[in-house]
Amino acid sequence: MKHAALLGTGSCLPQKVLTNNDLEKIVETSDEWITSRTGIHTRRIASRGEENFRLAARAAEKALEMADTRATEIELIIVATFSPHMMMPSTACFVQAEIGAENAFAYDVNAACSGFLYGLDLADKYIAARPDMKILLIGSETLSAHVDWSDRNTCILFGDGAGAVVLSGSDSRGVQASKLYSDGRLWNLLYMDSPESLNPDLVQKDRQGCHIQMSGRDVFKFAVRSMEDAVKKLLTQENLTVDDLALVIPHQANVRILNKLMERLGIPVDKVYINVDRYGNTSAASIPIALDEVNRQNGLQPGDTVLFCSFGGGFTWGALLMKW
Ligand code: ACO
Repeated sequence: MKHAALLGTGSCLPQKVLTNNDLEKIVETSDEWITSRTGIHTRRIASRGEENFRLAARAAEKALEMADTRATEIELIIVATFSPHMMMPSTACFVQAEIGAENAFAYDVNAACSGFLYGLDLADKYIAARPDMKILLIGSETLSAHVDWSDRNTCILFGDGAGAVVLSGSDSRGVQASKLYSDGRLWNLLYMDSPESLNPDLVQKDRQGCHIQMSGRDVFKFAVRSMEDAVKKLLTQENLTVDDLALVIPHQANVRILNKLMERLGIPVDKVYINVDRYGNTSAASIPIALDEVNRQNGLQPGDTVLFCSFGGGFTWGALLMKW
């Protein structure tokens, strides 16, 4: 059976850089606090002209160029996001129009920070059925529009950006196996409300607005435990050990979460790709941005096994293995 393999990768980050020192002027915080608790030094913030679908489209164009593929050859566009350009139509439809992928069908996936892995798993299923299909999968977020800039617990964590991959079927490369999970009972530990309803019968009086709300310590603990469990189950299922992994590309939420996770899994830190220090947490975009950086630095050799893992609002979490 053929699996979804990379033909090309691309990414796009907004121009504006927001440093920890800049944040000291917005909320009561310090560079020392943010660096020691999260490992984040800077994040990118979108401006007008850098809307979610535009970042996504620029990342897609770079991935298409690397894949030597025209936009009209793409049959499916999936955008993973929880900060869509509009509630309707999907950001994927805006991307379709922006890049001229007129032969594609397009839709969004919302699994918060796990969105890219959910999308990769989905793309793999399409390709199992139609191996010659070319799929554009994008993780793209403009979280700066959704954080409460007076809440120091959350506004220091997030950033904007997009990463894209072009996928098609391969016998020897690509997605090897995945394990995805969610637990909707834990929704209120990490969530973002919908815009106010105009139907007075549906308006909830106790809403705090449409900002990211988070119980940081609970998220931290759950993130470590859930990713550890997913990775261990996936490696056992595939009869692999951590020594078989060439590289781990995790969701980039927080350096402390990643250090703790790798310590529990027994994976040395030099096998883990980290860029959260530069971009903050870009949710569904974090893995494809990191993947594009690894790819453009020729960080992997044919035959290498790469592990991806993520967690996010829902809760959603999972792990996925890819043969390079
Ligand atoms: N600057 C200075 N002080 C701060 C800041 C800040 N930016 N934020 C919080 N504090 C204070 C708190 O008010 C608290 O003060 P208090 O003791 O007087 O009450 C103190 O620092 C400690 O706060 P904690 O929340 O206990 O700090 P903690 O060590 O847990 O670190 C953090 C907080 C960084 C948020 C951590 O819990 C974390 O990383 N959690 C995971 C968050 C995450 O990854 N979220 C994204 C999920 S992915 C997705 O789906 C979107």
